[in-house]
Amino acid sequence: MIVARGGEGGGHGDDRVGTLALLQGVLDAVGDEVIVVAAGGIGTARGLAAALAAGAGGAWVGTALLTCSEALTPPAARQRLIAATELDTVSTSVFDIAQQLAWPPEYRGRVLINAFTAVWHGHEDDLARQRDAPQRLEDARARGNFDTAVIYAGQGVGSLSLEASAETVISEMAGEAEALLRRW
Ligand SMILES: Cc1cc2nc3c(=O)[nH]c(=O)nc-3n(C[C@H](O)[C@H](O)[C@H](O)COP(=O)(O)O)c2cc1C
Repeated sequence: MIVARGGEGGGHGDDRVGTLALLQGVLDAVGDEVIVVAAGGIGTARGLAAALAAGAGGAWVGTALLTCSEALTPPAARQRLIAATELDTVSTSVFDIAQQLAWPPEYRGRVLINAFTAVWHGHEDDLARQRDAPQRLEDARARGNFDTAVIYAGQGVGSLSLEASAETVISEMAGEAEALLRRW
């Protein structure tokens, strides 16, 4: 199995190519012998149906599960996720730099925009010189201050509107995708 994860996805990854462009190329490249799973920005039945129609074996979903009742997402982060639109994320290295995590530069993390990204995204060299940054981030996370602390989320965050069980999210996504594919 290969996961083709496009730049829309939440968390760490290569953001240079979007999911649909990547998926088409990977499906053509690997042929029928390998299952290709599509990831990045797929969080509704329509996205799942599109991936399956293109030839993917399934979808790998992250962001759509962030506000599930089972998720460990803190309440203050849930509120931000539900309020966010698809325009409210950025792919950035600032949280890795601030935490002194040695991710390769091409693997940024897609996160919700907040006050920390507003100040430091684009000023990474200055941020690397802030010796108190790891402690500031740790304190912010402990206090649930998401103006500073990171919330990883992909562009599909715009589709999050309520808290539901993971079973409900997955079964509705799968059931409605099947109905869409049958109708077409
Ligand atoms: C909060 C969050 C944490 C993640 N953590 C990891 C991780 O630790 N390792 C990993 O390989 N991918 C991680 N991912 C990426 C997912 O595995 C997946 O590629 C991505 O969520 C798919 O795109 P989507 O978020 O648009 O559904 C994370 C994604 C999110 C939203």
